[in-house]
Amino acid sequence: MTEPWWRQAVVYQVYLRSFADSDGDGVGDLEGLRERLDYLRRLGVDGIWLNPCYPSPGADHGYDVSDYMDIDPLYGGLSAWDRFLGDAHAHGLKVLMDLVPNHCSVEHPWFRAALAGDREMRDRFIFRRQPNNWQSIFGGPAWTQVDDEWYLHSFAPEQPDFNWRNPAVAEYFEQVLRFWFDRGVDGIRIDVAHMMYKHAELLDWPGTGHNPHMSNQPEVHDVLRRWRRIADGYARDLTLVGEIWVPTVDDLALFLRPDELPQAFYFDLLVCPWDAGRFRDSITRGLSTAGGTWTLANHDVHRSVSRYGLLTRTGGPATRPRGEVDVALGVRRARAAALLTLALPGSVYLYQGEEAGLPEVLDLPDSARQDPTFHRSGPADYGRDGCRVPLPWTSTGPSFGFSRSPSPWLPQPAWFADYAIEDQIGHPDSTWELHRQALTLRRDFTGPLEWLSTSRDDVIAFRRGPHTVLTVFGPTPYPTPQATPLLASTPCPPNEVPGNTTAWFVG
Ligand code: NOJ
Repeated sequence: MTEPWWRQAVVYQVYLRSFADSDGDGVGDLEGLRERLDYLRRLGVDGIWLNPCYPSPGADHGYDVSDYMDIDPLYGGLSAWDRFLGDAHAHGLKVLMDLVPNHCSVEHPWFRAALAGDREMRDRFIFRRQPNNWQSIFGGPAWTQVDDEWYLHSFAPEQPDFNWRNPAVAEYFEQVLRFWFDRGVDGIRIDVAHMMYKHAELLDWPGTGHNPHMSNQPEVHDVLRRWRRIADGYARDLTLVGEIWVPTVDDLALFLRPDELPQAFYFDLLVCPWDAGRFRDSITRGLSTAGGTWTLANHDVHRSVSRYGLLTRTGGPATRPRGEVDVALGVRRARAAALLTLALPGSVYLYQGEEAGLPEVLDLPDSARQDPTFHRSGPADYGRDGCRVPLPWTSTGPSFGFSRSPSPWLPQPAWFADYAIEDQIGHPDSTWELHRQALTLRRDFTGPLEWLSTSRDDVIAFRRGPHTVLTVFGPTPYPTPQATPLLASTPCPPNEVPGNTTAWFVG
């Protein structure tokens, strides 16, 4: 039996607003992406995950959906999407949509009707006379009052949570799923796939931090099982990949039971600081319990360059740690981390800009920031705008080749010129070429991972078939194994792997 396409795939995450703008309005769009399909093909990825591009007022840039079965005209509408899908498939690229089942937009017709007083529609959301004490994940209370009732929103007030205990909600999402599968997508990324159900009695949560009543309820597994049956009913291989932030890897494993999700992002590795022991333990846990869906970055976290380049940690959540960053060191470590991850058994989700070694934009002016996390959490968390700044394609020109407009929706810093993608293509030492080569060579990596012992705590090494992979986390070089060098994240002198480097060997 051949493996499903997604098992070893590299999927490139496109944050559409920031990828490429074809019509000059400063916001990326589907035509801009379509024009760059050759680029993605050349990089060597197998598929694309598109962040939500459905009609949306944009309170959370698309994660507040007002129509699940259409595409926002801002991105070109459904006809542009159909053209894009056809061309992506013609380029041999799979396409994943992003489904948002926990909440919609206040502009969704159901919620509008609910606000207008329709009781049946109110029951499709979580309205109560008395709010409980829950806090929203974006900061501030999780309830907003409308009349004599309050509604629950786990995220921004513009994102009312559905009531998944109402069968109309479940039926609706099965229809949505079929709509996109019938239209030709190859998979679905499921937004906060552990959150649809809340504690049946909406119990107060006395603690601070993670609120276990707000997510990860046993009922959610039945929804995912039904969706899996729907996906399996199609003649082609479809994947469902869950975005699931649960406290332990064992909790995550429950979502990956044989009749549930084929894939779930393994965030345990993403939040590991640059430390050999932590990486090795996390990879071991991930392989034994979480199926190997690796990722080091996405549109919600600080870019890996800036996480791994952190010299001192002064605050921020694990996904967006703050402190002094050494960018050159961060780039070097991010390249090493990429090469390590791309050698693991399983699939890898790359976030746009990683292939160029792009750092986080940490110093956006507050007046430019748009993320509701920033506006609701204030200085405690600067939010996610810094990883969403539009890509620099060229080192000159208006908005570095992203758009004809000199004013993209988030301002790009002058130093973006140093990371211009087109200047890196064909340049042997560039981060882009490192990714391209790794994506080609990883296709020969087969078989399970077998750890090798090393003589130092800051070095990890493993074998997969004839391949050996070695990562030096500390600054001091380590002797090379007896094998032929294949690829390295930093140039290696003979017989040693420098510090903060991953090297691949064969034979
Ligand atoms: C997770 C998404 O990745 C994030 O961008 C979004 O804000 C929340 N879910 C709410 O939909």
